[in-house]
Amino acid sequence: MYVSGSTADENKLTYKQIEGAVSKLGRFKTRKNTNSMNNITSLKGFYDRYSGEFSSWRSVIDTVEQTAKDFGFREIDTPAVERTRLYEVKSGEELLDQTYSFEDRGGRRVTLTPEQTPTRARMVQERKDLNTPVKWVDTSKRWRYENVQKGRDREFFQTDIDIFDIESVEADAEVIACAATIYRRLGVEDQVEFLINDRNLLESVLEANGIQNTVEVMQVIDDKEKLSTQEFTEALDDRGVSAAAADQVDQLTSIRGPIKETVSELRGKAPDDEETIEAIDRMQDLADALESYGVASMCRLDLSIVRGLAYYTGLVFEAFDTEGELRALFGGGRYDDLVGLFGDREVSAVGFAFGYSTTRELLKREQKWPTEEISTDVFVANVSDSVRDEALDLAMQLRQSNLVVETDLADRGLSAQFNYGDNINASWAIVVGERDLSNNEVTVRDMRSGDEEQVDVDEVTEHLTSIIGE
Ligand code: HAM
Repeated sequence: MYVSGSTADENKLTYKQIEGAVSKLGRFKTRKNTNSMNNITSLKGFYDRYSGEFSSWRSVIDTVEQTAKDFGFREIDTPAVERTRLYEVKSGEELLDQTYSFEDRGGRRVTLTPEQTPTRARMVQERKDLNTPVKWVDTSKRWRYENVQKGRDREFFQTDIDIFDIESVEADAEVIACAATIYRRLGVEDQVEFLINDRNLLESVLEANGIQNTVEVMQVIDDKEKLSTQEFTEALDDRGVSAAAADQVDQLTSIRGPIKETVSELRGKAPDDEETIEAIDRMQDLADALESYGVASMCRLDLSIVRGLAYYTGLVFEAFDTEGELRALFGGGRYDDLVGLFGDREVSAVGFAFGYSTTRELLKREQKWPTEEISTDVFVANVSDSVRDEALDLAMQLRQSNLVVETDLADRGLSAQFNYGDNINASWAIVVGERDLSNNEVTVRDMRSGDEEQVDVDEVTEHLTSIIGE
């Protein structure tokens, strides 16, 4: 640190002076580094999120959870580690290849939860006394050993939202409506579309075209987006699909568009066997229900949506940004057989997991990602040590009114306290001083404008809660 206009040597500050200045600014002191641990960083795909950044995450997570709660989804909590066998039943090979699995000290094969759906299925099976429909929401971390790239991390948050024990499209429509409301509240309704399909519909269309190995063929369709037409046809050929049938599959899986109109279009083109008609009728009912929820405009029917997870039994859906730049924002579907695998009860289920990594990219692109900074309602400053008790007492009163309040913990002078108040983005400061107190008053300062006024000590809480509540 140098003072301008003088020679360097004259004005070099001593280490002590620098430390003093730094401490006034409210930053860490440094010391000569003799520590051999200074190269330990977090793992690739795992993130340290400091308070400023995490306040934005918290705000988005709160919006997602509050929306689910407004639809009557109830919060649960589940284990972070499960027996590996839980995922071997139905999650599919791709997911199993990505798990963090290890043997615990008791010799059990265990896995860090890569998704919550199998846990939920197990939980529903275990408790026969649950009131149905069961509607659950939870936000927590998942772990998958993925190739780290934009929108793909190794540790990530998901909010899972599911309804159990309702087989009809009413539950399908409600989870999709909940997802749509989330994007509305996040301010990106026009930038998001939901691509919806029904595996039964696709399967019956494939079968009507003479294709028997539908599971294998649907895996190729799942990859269609990444393949050229020629690669797609070749991949189908490898699975024994004739050129004519491959062409038909290509055409049918290219059908996509606004849900209501596209269901009608499909009805005209699809084979008229019983299963196909049944699946189209169900999709029509879903389209009608989505219209009643006022969210049909965000929904498109897309026959190429399959989804990788092995447990889906019918409806599948994914959300994408309308520009098509980002990976899936979330994904879900109906899984009516999964609960039954864990016991003697069959319970239908539908839901989705909201992913934050890609939603964050989208919100940032659309300038809707909340500002990454902490916020504080009130900073209570004290003019001198003699009024510290009064300052603490006042802070406690304000906290009773649910305000976020900080006081000086570092015995700083008044101007350093104001600096700190600025650093924590305090909206208001209260200055507690002896002279004011002798008149039973404190000074209330608007930290943005710098305007100050004297307020009676007994009225300050009400005064501030009413302004902050406005
Ligand atoms: P999923 O498609 O595997 O489905 O994941 C859902 C969403 O989580 C994805 O669309 C994506 O936004 C996010 N996600 C997945 N993997 C990662 C990753 N490595 N890094 C960041 N975000 C990721 C499921 O997990 C199903 N259990 C969803 C479900 C719930 N189906 C029915 N109920």
